[in-house]
Amino acid sequence: MRTKVLMVCLGNICRSPLAEGILKSKVDPHLVFVDSAGTGGYHIGEKPDPRSIAIARQYGLDISYQRCRKFVREDFDNFDIIYAMDKSNYENILRLADTSDKVKKLKLLLEEVNLETKEVPDPYYGGDKGFEHVFQMISAACEAISARIHKHEK
Ligand code: 4NP
Repeated sequence: MRTKVLMVCLGNICRSPLAEGILKSKVDPHLVFVDSAGTGGYHIGEKPDPRSIAIARQYGLDISYQRCRKFVREDFDNFDIIYAMDKSNYENILRLADTSDKVKKLKLLLEEVNLETKEVPDPYYGGDKGFEHVFQMISAACEAISARIHKHEK
């Protein structure tokens, strides 16, 4: 059965669209389904932020087809793993988890790697430079996720 992974940030226009695009580039689509969503509803229906589209393109990934959507309760039923980009996103999603099984599905993305921080910083109000940093952090975590999922499936 396909593992279904949902990447979640606040706006679903900067970090989680990158996480969706990066993880998709590292996994077999027959084995892993990847989507993303935001806890806030400010940009529903919009494309990712142009700075996220640009940094992804620099690394050969096209994320411009993605459209922003809001996280919904049903995502707990439709996904196996839900990765929050930061603790604030984590807390917001946790509030919607009404069973222990749902709570177990929720993780911080950077729990997957040994970096100094467990949070992907919000680059929205920063300059372009933040997007490179965010891209590298997310890539490292997605590499670890991909290795684990594929090892498990073999
Ligand atoms: P994201 O960044 O959570 O990485 O998509 C943000 C995008 C938009 C907003 C906040 C964060 N906003 O407030 O509109």
